[in-house]
Formats: sequence, C-alpha cells, structure tokens
Amino acid sequence: SGTTTTAKPLLGKHVLVTAGPTHEPIDPVRYIANRSSGKQGFAIAAAAAAAGARVTLVAGPVGLADPEGVSVRRVETARDMLAAVEIALPADIAIFAAAVADWRPAHEAGSKLKKDGSGIVPPLHVTENPDILSTIAHRRDGRPGLVVGFAAETDDVLENARKKLGRKGADIIVANDVSPANNVMGGAANTVHLVTPEGIESWPQLPKDEVARRLVHWIAGRLPPTA
Ligand code: CTP
Ligand code: CA
Repeated sequence: SGTTTTAKPLLGKHVLVTAGPTHEPIDPVRYIANRSSGKQGFAIAAAAAAAGARVTLVAGPVGLADPEGVSVRRVETARDMLAAVEIALPADIAIFAAAVADWRPAHEAGSKLKKDGSGIVPPLHVTENPDILSTIAHRRDGRPGLVVGFAAETDDVLENARKKLGRKGADIIVANDVSPANNVMGGAANTVHLVTPEGIESWPQLPKDEVARRLVHWIAGRLPPTA
C-alpha cells in the first residue's frame, strides 16, 4: 500500500530455499518421514520474495500453499530434492531449511509388503541419502554466494551447530533446539542461534514468520559484494 515503505534488500537476487520433510518409499503404500511441517522454510521463501528476491522453493511433501510470488517445485525424496536444487542453480543465496531424511530404504519394494503369517518381520535395510547442503556448499563451480544451513538438535545445540558449519561447508548455520518441549517441529514458533565463523548470535523465541523476516534481512546484510 502507499502508506508502507518496504525495504527490498534482495532486489535482483535469486534465492533458493529447501523446506519440509522428504518421504522415502518402502513400498508403494509406505514411506519413512519425519515431523517437519515446512512452516519455517515456507516463511523464509515468502520473506525473501517480500524482500524483492526471485525465489525458488524446493519443497518436500507438506500441505502448505505456494507462497505469493515464489516458484515452488514439489518433490518427494531426498534424491529428487537434490536434483531439483541443482536444476534451480545458479543462486545468490541458498537456504537449506528442509528436514531431509538421513536414510532411505536400500530397496524400494515394487509391490506391497505382506505379512506371511509366520510372525517373522521383514528386515528394513536403509542406506544414507545424499547431503544436499554439503553437496552444494562444496561445489567448485556455481556455488551460491551465501550458503545457509539449519541444524536441528536436541542436545549440545551450539556445539553441534558449530561442527555442522565446518563439516558441511556452510557460511551460516541456523541452529534450533527441536526438543519436544520446545514444540518447534510443527509448531508456530522457533528459537534460533545464528552460527558463523565469527561467532554466535542468539535470538529470543519468535513466531516462525518473524524469524523468517529477520533472517532474510540479516542474511542480506552479509551478502558478499557483487563484482
Ligand atoms: N541436510 C541436507 N541433506 C541431508 C541432510 C541434511 O541438505 N541429507 C541439511 C539440512 O537441510 C540442514 C542441515 O543439512 O540445513 C543440517 O541438517 P541436520 O539434520 O541438522 O544435520 P545432519 O547433517 O543430517 O546430521 P544429524 O541429523 O545426524 O544431526
Ligand atoms: Ca539429519
């Protein structure tokens, strides 16, 4: 509206965001998943668009509507998510908010697994999924100018987040304590700690869309200068 002046610090920038869980199929009717709602990632995509960016959101299976002004690619599995992220590059900023399944069934059964009446349960062998954040952050060519990861922790939040910053090659890790008492997974609020090589900044508990707005502006302020 004419009464509101909106800062557009991301005008001309392409921002890539991942959000939500992934589903890893066991057979045609079953999958491995997690409690991610996608709310934080969708809010970040919306906030980046509001800040003037062109935004691509690669979203796992969630029941959230496309944020206004955002190009949304819907995917199921971690491998699909990585492929969609690679297709969406180049990006000035990549924010990996998805709760990617760490493991997937090693073999997807082509037909529904059945109880055979013997009481013997089928073994579920799992294998590790590709790490999307680490793969993109370690690219030699076409690495986004700023790579932001999340860390979902229940214990030793800051110490684990600092380790992830180094191991994954991210510029920033947004650490959140996802202990059940905090009701972050699926809830409407989040308490985050911004971990960079320079130090840690902790924010109070805020609604997820407020975390998103502040985060987008904080990140915009750390963009490397353009040539
Ligand atoms: N991530 C990813 N691909 C994966 C696993 C994680 O892109 N296969 C990203 C997440 O989107 C997040 C960051 O890596 O930005 C950290 O995710 P997290 O689950 O906290 O860390 P992991 O490295 O998977 O370690 P763990 O779950 O064992 O703590
Ligand atoms: Ca994980």
